[in-house]
Amino acid sequence: ATGRLADRLDRPLRDLRISVTDRCNFRCVYCMPKTVFGRDYAFLEREEMLDFDEITRLARVAAAHGVEKLRLTGGEPLLRRGIEELIARLAELRTPDGRPLEIALTTNGAALAVKADALKAAGLTRVTVSLDSLDDDVFRAMNDVGFPIARVLDGMEAARAAGLGPIKVNMVVKRGVNDHEVLPMARHFHGTPFSLRFIEYMDVGTSNGWSLDEVVPSAEVVERIGRELPLEPVGALVPGETAARWRYRDGGGEIGVISSVTKAFCGTCNRARISTDGRLFTCLFASEGHDLRALLRGGVDDEGLAAAMAAIWGARDDRYSEVRARLTPELRDARPKIEMSYIGG
Ligand code: GTP
Ligand code: 5AD
Ligand code: SF4
Ligand code: SF4
Repeated sequence: ATGRLADRLDRPLRDLRISVTDRCNFRCVYCMPKTVFGRDYAFLEREEMLDFDEITRLARVAAAHGVEKLRLTGGEPLLRRGIEELIARLAELRTPDGRPLEIALTTNGAALAVKADALKAAGLTRVTVSLDSLDDDVFRAMNDVGFPIARVLDGMEAARAAGLGPIKVNMVVKRGVNDHEVLPMARHFHGTPFSLRFIEYMDVGTSNGWSLDEVVPSAEVVERIGRELPLEPVGALVPGETAARWRYRDGGGEIGVISSVTKAFCGTCNRARISTDGRLFTCLFASEGHDLRALLRGGVDDEGLAAAMAAIWGARDDRYSEVRARLTPELRDARPKIEMSYIGG
């Protein structure tokens, strides 16, 4: 019952994003605001989370269905105890024609200085680091736990030195909060091996109080940077990429823009997400997931698991970002949505 899958809009399944913890040591204002994720917030208990056997099994079945890339997310994935051991096990998986999967990880960088070498040794392919500002005051305010920028920059350097590249840097741009950092960030990473990506602030979850006024359209970002450091568009390297790529005309490398609000990319979306407790979500904005943990713990065999995945993907017709533009704010806010820290970015 395995083989390449296609959903109702004829999109394949290529990218599996696995959230390995719903916890984070940061409280980024756009993701885990302190008002909601406070002292008594009920995070998942250990036995609710998928264990490494369960995660590896799901990934193996997904690989048989055509998944080529695994991305470990969270919360903050480096907080999951034994993450290196999980990576080592995932690194043994193969595509149907015998290639290893790409294993990427999205991190806030706080633990990278300590963990980079071990992650590389375990078989991690590359990391993407979230970094919203170079200004220490702005950065501390955005992560809202006063975490200093210097330690993240050290972590990025450690990751580069360990060979965990090419490294991407994700900057969520929020108007009036850090959009004055767009140009300084571009200048800082211009001519370095790090490729900076600007992300339009999205209405994920229900706790960040999103409003359209706070979104800085990617076209504006490209225009602001291009005035000082001329840019030209580059075609997509891999089908279904989230980011549109732009290259500095002077050879100083590339940037990317992720325009989920102003230029939705659902048409080629080949991503599925597994939450920390084993629910499969076919869209970042899905209201509900499919409980694969219940199947796993109910003793399903691999064939049954493969069939369940195929059925879920086959029924998929999500394209929220394309639909969003046509929703009134009331309809948009009435939709139940899942927090990003739980479902994984
Ligand atoms: P690469 O493999 O390096 O291209 O990574 P990626 O862009 O797939 O993943 P990453 O974790 O770096 O995500 C970057 C940003 O894009 C984050 O803000 C994600 O939430 C957002 N993003 C990733 N996938 C999707 C998606 O399918 N839909 C939407 N709307 N946003 C997404
Ligand atoms: N809008 C856009 N990006 C977000 N991220 C977290 N919350 C949001 C949001 N509301 C980003 C993180 C990380 C990536 C996985 O998702 O900064 O880089
Ligand atoms: Fe943590 Fe990443 Fe969310 Fe920030 S964006 S609170 S680092 S999971
Ligand atoms: Fe994919 Fe949903 Fe994002 Fe569209 S909104 S790109 S369907 S995850």
